[in-house]
Amino acid sequence: MNIQIAPSILSADFANLERDLKAIGTADMVHVDVMDHHFVPNLTLGEPVVERICQVSDLPVDVHLMIEDPDRWAPEFARLGAASVTFHMGATHAPVRLARQLRDMGVKASFAVRPAEPVEPLFDILDEFDMILIMTVEPGFGGQRFLSNQMGKVRRLRDRIKELGLDTHIQVDGGVSAKTAPIVAEAGADVLVAGSAVYGAPDRAQAIEAIRGAAQAAVRS
Ligand code: DX5
Ligand code: ZN
Repeated sequence: MNIQIAPSILSADFANLERDLKAIGTADMVHVDVMDHHFVPNLTLGEPVVERICQVSDLPVDVHLMIEDPDRWAPEFARLGAASVTFHMGATHAPVRLARQLRDMGVKASFAVRPAEPVEPLFDILDEFDMILIMTVEPGFGGQRFLSNQMGKVRRLRDRIKELGLDTHIQVDGGVSAKTAPIVAEAGADVLVAGSAVYGAPDRAQAIEAIRGAAQAAVRS
């Protein structure tokens, strides 16, 4: 399995976004956290900023919507140039309809579950999504402690994806570092979001490679 690294710009300098985007050129995608003060107790950025990020980024833009009513708003972010759009189980009314709408627009559809939400309800609709995001912190803030108790979910999900013969990606988001990367990769995740572990390091490229290397070495066959 090929490990992909998605640095989260939540931990970047919002006054120097273009500079901080260029600093992660060796990553596989850039993870953009959109928060609305309602679904999560934080407010980040919206359509105009995401549009500019899509214009200046050399990497595919992975938009993580932590907002209410993604059924209404997710297609807007797809239209702005995102490569993938993630919406949450706890906020989405019709995830299959929304995923189909995004895929029809040529954008990857991704569904997210929070730590207290089960992954089993997705087991019969997995073919509708390109990626499942297992949150390894409560969404809302960077720099929180990694929840290793979410690894059972990753494991069960990977087994089910294999059983169905699908190529669905499993993304993990929250507390991922070179130290926790082997744990998530061994459990079966292949797309690793890392905010503070990348932007908190003096050398971002080195931090990306450290996480990638640690994860790749732990991938189970
Ligand atoms: C948190 C966000 C994450 C955040 C991760 O709700 O979804 O993407 O940036 O930050 P770290 O890697 O610092 O836990
Ligand atoms: Zn995120």
